[in-house]
Amino acid sequence: MADKVTVSLIKADVGSIAGHSRPHPKMMEVAALTLDKGVKDGLLNDFYVTRCGDDMELLMTHRNGENHKGVHELAWNAFMAASEAAKKMRLYAAGQDLLSDAFSGNVRGQGPGAAEMEFEERPTEPMIVLMADKCGPAAYSLPISKIYMDPFTTTGLVIDPRAHLGYDIEVVDVVDNKRVVMSSPAEMYDILALIGDTTRYAVKRVIHRDIGVGAVVSTEKLNMLAGKYVGKDDPVMMVRCQSGLPAAGEVLQPFAFPQLVAGWMRGSHYGAWFPCAVDESTPSYFDGPPRVCALGIQISNGMIQGLESPGSKPGDHCPIDYFAGKEWDPVRNKAMDISMYMRGHGPFMPGIVSPDELEYTTRPEILKKLEPRMQPLE
Ligand code: F6R
Ligand code: MG
Ligand code: MG
Repeated sequence: MADKVTVSLIKADVGSIAGHSRPHPKMMEVAALTLDKGVKDGLLNDFYVTRCGDDMELLMTHRNGENHKGVHELAWNAFMAASEAAKKMRLYAAGQDLLSDAFSGNVRGQGPGAAEMEFEERPTEPMIVLMADKCGPAAYSLPISKIYMDPFTTTGLVIDPRAHLGYDIEVVDVVDNKRVVMSSPAEMYDILALIGDTTRYAVKRVIHRDIGVGAVVSTEKLNMLAGKYVGKDDPVMMVRCQSGLPAAGEVLQPFAFPQLVAGWMRGSHYGAWFPCAVDESTPSYFDGPPRVCALGIQISNGMIQGLESPGSKPGDHCPIDYFAGKEWDPVRNKAMDISMYMRGHGPFMPGIVSPDELEYTTRPEILKKLEPRMQPLE
């Protein structure tokens, strides 16, 4: 459908410096060159390459719809090029999230995470791109509940007639690979009964009954895809804002609560979600704490509009880095206090995740070794 725009955000961790820290600028540069070729070939309209912690994030606009083979292949090739650059520098975990040697039609199931939305552009289309590191996709379920279902967060639900309609919420069961669409506010308690279990359920999509898609989350469960630990999901979410949808400020406010999220250090710890600027997202305390970044852009005639000036290089969009400001310092301080407190538990729950969710485990071998010494209780 030629008049619709698709925004695709595809991310992967393909190598870092000195541990799982951040991609090298050279990796980002070669990824951008690959996407620039996609623009020149007419496949993409526009792109922006960024990162959150050790994850490289490819934001792309095009007219090809969701799950488009050519767009996914281009993203895959950009990650391959970055991973080759990482391998040349002998960086750590080079190519980590690329689970197969060859692209097979769609990045889903091959390691990278993807959030995509196709919609008819409104006369002005503000969007917030959220990117997280060291956590799973269910991390967004609590903020989504507040943004779309809590009138004490989103006053628009009460006083804006366009928002008053409520939303449809698509919930996925990431263990059994099933999905269900539920309506808020009518089924709000049922929705919360599912998504409160962050080990199994996550919100994939939020739909406004008139405006269409409002938000989409990448819900690939990378650790399960691989059958063994190869990296955390580190999910992304794209949110359309304003004019009947939540205001940018209503989207951002829930992140002032530093909720505990699972996936920190070895994918196996709970830590408090730390909102920060992209440049501040390099993990520095116990491989964390878990981060979240928020970039503001406009989608404009199928292109990405940030603060760039005329004559900027292709893909050089300078989005609004929403969590860069000092007003987020008290949240960051609180998040660090909570994360340090959680570290006090060492390898004990609830500092670590439940045994089923651990990314590494020695327990089967230990139990096997102990089997001859295990005695029945009196
Ligand atoms: C990776 C991550 C890290 C690693 C940890 C151990 O994104 O979050 O916490 O899990 O540094 O890494 P390996 O097993 O590569 O030594
Ligand atoms: Mg990561
Ligand atoms: Mg990683």
